[in-house]
Amino acid sequence: MFISEKKILKKPIPQHLAIILDGNGRWAKKRGLPRSLGHYNGAINLAKIAQLCDKYGVKYLTVYCFSTENWKRPKEEVEYLMQEPVKQWYTNKDKIIESNIVIKVIGRRDRFPQDTLKMILEMEESTKNNTGLTLVIAADYGSQTEITEAVKKITQQVVDDKIKIEDINSELIENNLYTACFPKLDLLIRTSGEVRISNFLLWQLSYAELYFAKCYWPSFNKRELLKAFKSYQSRNRRFGGLNEVKK
Ligand code: IPE
Ligand code: IPE
Ligand code: MG
Repeated sequence: MFISEKKILKKPIPQHLAIILDGNGRWAKKRGLPRSLGHYNGAINLAKIAQLCDKYGVKYLTVYCFSTENWKRPKEEVEYLMQEPVKQWYTNKDKIIESNIVIKVIGRRDRFPQDTLKMILEMEESTKNNTGLTLVIAADYGSQTEITEAVKKITQQVVDDKIKIEDINSELIENNLYTACFPKLDLLIRTSGEVRISNFLLWQLSYAELYFAKCYWPSFNKRELLKAFKSYQSRNRRFGGLNEVKK
């Protein structure tokens, strides 16, 4: 397929893009490498794609890096996934801060090893005044947990007589999700050929466009990203109405 960067950049680019970074393990296996090297190359690729998205004018990039179910994986793999980002952060901290990207982390915070949590807090604090792309990292993230926590918070407000049942609407639910301060999702990409959402942004995905790429995450490059944008630009987003939205 012919892909012209120039042509694609003249048309609307998703303002909020989400990616399920999948296929690190299979990428490594195909090359006879340990799964950890797949994760390592996946992390390197995330830095590249985030910078590219920033350059292309994407404002928010939300990436699924570790699910609430991923704790089920072998202990050594989980350990690697918790420790490698800490190492990466302390090695590349200055470069990351200088890149002008804002980093936010969504998900549970009560199960991370201490040094991983410390790194997360430091990363958020030291990038909060940047003005470029906001990179939202979903780690120990599960959409069902997120919605359950929102239900609990809202119910508590009712019990405490702070709000009435009649006050519960979709806006209030949205405001109680981890993603409350981020704009609506435009496009979701999942790599690796799997065609499922797993446990990602179940509420937030309504009316987002979906795109499934065959390649494994560490191989997802500029051309693959532009292909996804091209597909996005060909969609007719109606949001339940009848009007054709011209791009
Ligand atoms: C995605 O790659 C990263 C995480 C879920 C942590 P996988 O590790 O799921 O790779 P595959 O799906 O086994 O190839
Ligand atoms: C989804 O990938 C979660 C992340 C990419 C973090 P998985 O590899 O864990 O998902 P399933 O089990 O194939 O659905
Ligand atoms: Mg996977």
